Amino acid sequence: MKVLLIGSGGREHALAWKIAQSPLIDELYAAPGNPGIAEHATLVSLDVEDHAAVIAFAKEKAIDFVVIGPEAPLVAGLADDLRAAGIATFGPSKAAAQLEGSKGFTKDLCARYDIPTGAYQRFKSAEPAKDYVRAQGAPIVIKADGLAAGKGVTVAMTEAEALAAIDDCFDGAFGAAGAEVVVEAFLDGEEASFFCLSDGKTALALATAQDHKRVGDGDTGPNTGGMGAYSPAPVMTPAMVERTMKEIIEPTIAGMAKDGNPFSGVFFAGLMITAKGPELIEYNVRFGDPECQVLMMRLKSDLLPILYATATGTLDKVEAEWRDDAALTVVLASRGYPGAYDKNTPIAHIPDASEEAKVFHAGTALKDGKLVATGGRVLNVTAFGKTVTEAQARAYALLDKVEWENGFCRRDIGWQAVAREKA
Ligand code: AMP
Ligand code: GLY
Repeated sequence: MKVLLIGSGGREHALAWKIAQSPLIDELYAAPGNPGIAEHATLVSLDVEDHAAVIAFAKEKAIDFVVIGPEAPLVAGLADDLRAAGIATFGPSKAAAQLEGSKGFTKDLCARYDIPTGAYQRFKSAEPAKDYVRAQGAPIVIKADGLAAGKGVTVAMTEAEALAAIDDCFDGAFGAAGAEVVVEAFLDGEEASFFCLSDGKTALALATAQDHKRVGDGDTGPNTGGMGAYSPAPVMTPAMVERTMKEIIEPTIAGMAKDGNPFSGVFFAGLMITAKGPELIEYNVRFGDPECQVLMMRLKSDLLPILYATATGTLDKVEAEWRDDAALTVVLASRGYPGAYDKNTPIAHIPDASEEAKVFHAGTALKDGKLVATGGRVLNVTAFGKTVTEAQARAYALLDKVEWENGFCRRDIGWQAVAREKA
C-alpha cells in the first residue's frame, strides 16, 4: 500500500514510525513531515491548505490511502475532498469534524442524545452570558466556541474571573473562534482521555491516557498543547471504559449518523470522571499530541490495517492488541513556550532509541544540515515500563542525554500515577 501522511508534529512522527513497520506498506510519504518522520517516510513539501495540490500529488504517486493527523485540515474539509476524488482517507468529514470545531455543536448533540456532560448555554453576546453566570455562580467554565489552540477555555473559580473571560472572548481574544461562547457547569473529578475508532457504524476502543496541559511542575502555570502524557490512565478501569462506550461513544456514533453526519476516524474524548461516572468535557477528532506517542508505543497490532478499516467501513473485521506495559512521554519545549520563544536554536545531540525508549520529533527542522528547534514543543522522549514509575525513570534517563541548550521540560510527568503506585 502507498500511504500519504499529513502533518508534521510528534503525533505524526509516532504514526509514521508505526505505519512504516507494517508489512503492508510499500511506500510512505509525509507532507510536510519533519526530520524525525524523514527516517520512515519520503517528505513532500505540499501546501496542505491547497486541497487540489494534495489530490494531484496523491494521483501522481498512485496513493492508496491518506492519513490526516491534525485537526485543521479536517475542519477545512480535506478528507471530504480526498474521498470525493476517490482516495481512501483516515479522518472525519468537515461536517463530522464540528465535534471538535464547535463546542456548541457537541453540547447540542449531547443534549439531543442524552450524553452525560455539564449543563450549559450558548451565547452570541456578552450581557446574556454574564446574566447566566451571575445566576449560576462560580466555579463555572467559559469556552470560546471555535478552535483556539487549546487556549479558549477558562475554568473560573470566581464570578469576576468568569465575567472577565466572557469580555475577553467577545473582545476578540480568540478571533472568530470567540464570536460565540459556551458557558458550562464546572465538573469535579479526575480527567482522562479515551481514544476510540469508528467507521460510522462500529466502534473499536483503543486505549486511555492522561496528559499534563499546564506548563509547570505540579500542574501550574498556563495551559499548553500538552507537556507530557502516559497510558493507560489508572482511573479508566475496565468498568469505566465500558460505561464510556455505552453512555458516551455509542450514542455519539448513532446520533451523528442519525443527524446525517456519520463519523469516521478517531474520537479523542476528554472525560471527567465525576461521582456520577464519566462525563464528556470535549471531543477532538484526531489523535492527541502527545497522547498518540504513548498509544503507538503500546500498540502491538499493525496500525495500518486498523486505520484502513476505519476509513473503509470494515472496522468490525479488525482488532487492536496492546502491551500491558505503561508508556510515558515527556515533551521538551523551547524556553518561553507557550509564550514567545527563540527559533532555530541548535539541537546538538539526540540519543539513539533503545528497546524501551525513543525520541519523537515535533518542532524540528534541518538548517544547513544541522538539526534546529523551530517550534514550541520540539521533542517527545517516550519510554515503556512495567509501571508508570519505571517508564518515567527511563524517559528522564534518555531525556537527560539530549543536548539542547534552549530546551526545558517538566520533571514530574506522570506524578499522579507514580503517587498511586507508591501508595
Ligand atoms: P478543553 O479545551 O475543552 O479540553 O478544556 C481545557 C481544560 O479545561 C480541560 O482539560 C479541563 O481541565 C478544563 N475543563 C473544561 N471543561 C470543564 C468543566 N466543565 N469542568 C471542569 N473543568 C473543565
Ligand atoms: N494533548 C492534547 C491535544 O492533543 O489536544
